[in-house]
Amino acid sequence: MSPTVFEPFKVKVVEPLALTERPQRERWLADAGWNLFGLHADTVTFDLLTDSGTTAMSSGQWSAMMRGDESYAGSRSFFRFESVVKELTGFRHVIPTHQGRAAERILFALTVLEGDVVPSNNHFDTTRANIEHDGGKALDLVADVAHDPRAEHPFKGDIDLEKLRACLEAHRGRVPLAMMTVTNNAGGGQPVSLENLRCVSALCKEYEVPFLLDACRFAENAWFIKQREPGQKRRSVKEIAQEMFLLADGCTFSGKKDGMVNMGGFLALDDDALAERARNLLILTEGFPTYGGCAARDLEALAVGITEALDERYLEYRTASVRYLADGLEAVGVPTMRPPGGHAVYVDAQALLPHVPAREFPGQALACELYLHGGIRSCEIGSVMFGREAPDGTFTGPDLELVRLALPRRVYTQSHVDRMIELAGEVADRADSLRGLRMTHDPKVLRHFTARFEPLEVVAPTPALV
Ligand code: F0G
Repeated sequence: MSPTVFEPFKVKVVEPLALTERPQRERWLADAGWNLFGLHADTVTFDLLTDSGTTAMSSGQWSAMMRGDESYAGSRSFFRFESVVKELTGFRHVIPTHQGRAAERILFALTVLEGDVVPSNNHFDTTRANIEHDGGKALDLVADVAHDPRAEHPFKGDIDLEKLRACLEAHRGRVPLAMMTVTNNAGGGQPVSLENLRCVSALCKEYEVPFLLDACRFAENAWFIKQREPGQKRRSVKEIAQEMFLLADGCTFSGKKDGMVNMGGFLALDDDALAERARNLLILTEGFPTYGGCAARDLEALAVGITEALDERYLEYRTASVRYLADGLEAVGVPTMRPPGGHAVYVDAQALLPHVPAREFPGQALACELYLHGGIRSCEIGSVMFGREAPDGTFTGPDLELVRLALPRRVYTQSHVDRMIELAGEVADRADSLRGLRMTHDPKVLRHFTARFEPLEVVAPTPALV
């Protein structure tokens, strides 16, 4: 038997968990319009809504924050942060933003024109929304294997290179940049291989299209490359990550993931002229270039966090805990996307609720029941997020109806995860009694955040189990 992979840290500060009863949760969920984003966090026991900004920071990060130099211009914290990012990425310009989407907003405002096309493996929803906001079209070209949730492929985040070439050929002159999301969040948190990144880089050079990484989870991606890609075992995760960045011309980065912070991000670029325009826009919407959208203490925490995310003991523990949750769920009859991703487990809601059609939101129905039954908050990634109803009433949903259970970094222990698995198994045992939902409020943009629903049929309550 292989030895238990344990947390490579001990706990210094604790926070109580909310322990609630099912009748209370029913009231709170109804008040929130059956949208888990509308809940007060105090009503949630296990919060797996996102791994973004929910990290427990280390004593190293907290003490670095005390060094924060809050000077308006030329803060030494900025230079410390800049040198860590430059050493990792090799990019010439590092522009701090308050989070990932602020970097996206600046990048696309400067590069995307009406009718342009931006290919990626899968765009994250804020990335897509920012591209579309500027009149562009965000194309998802992930390899076909990603559409099969059971396929045990090591790099289901890879882009389909033939489709990418066809896109670059068909839209010559209308592709301002190509992106790759590492790991591929909207596609199940699946990693991209170094081989695929090398090919994308070469293709983009051939077509003279800049290539940018959406690098939020670069460390988890590099760890999977080390584990799974032939010839990479002996390299350090940091060396692999450095090569990933070397292949690109820049990146957007949300520090709220592998930056291990609660707020912060950056845009990094090699192109001097584009960087100058980005800094000008930054001053308009975020702040002066040596703090961007952050307090200097946030930049200190981010500089330490990026370094900690590359610690291989940490990455081993991190990916082992995601796998533990996924394997535990499978064992109690909850089907998940295989193999487990880097930051989250994606439950296949369609497979669990085959009787609920896409237009009745099976993922949302399952996510709501996980909350009602166990106080677990998760996130639907299915027809709520990507489904569309045409004026004639026809409904198109995405390929997969998923519920994402994202693990915050360094937050929950193994017994927390054990309890979540038990609770999810109890929901799975009576999955055929779950009913779908009707959307009563359908916002135009990023509707999953604020949509409201009502249940199609009330499910008989069971005793509270938390
Ligand atoms: N790109 C990816 C791949 C992301 O996962 C996110 C955020 C962003 C960009 C935007 O970054 O939130 O700092 O503005 N993902 C979060 C999530 C919200 O829950 O997956 P941000």
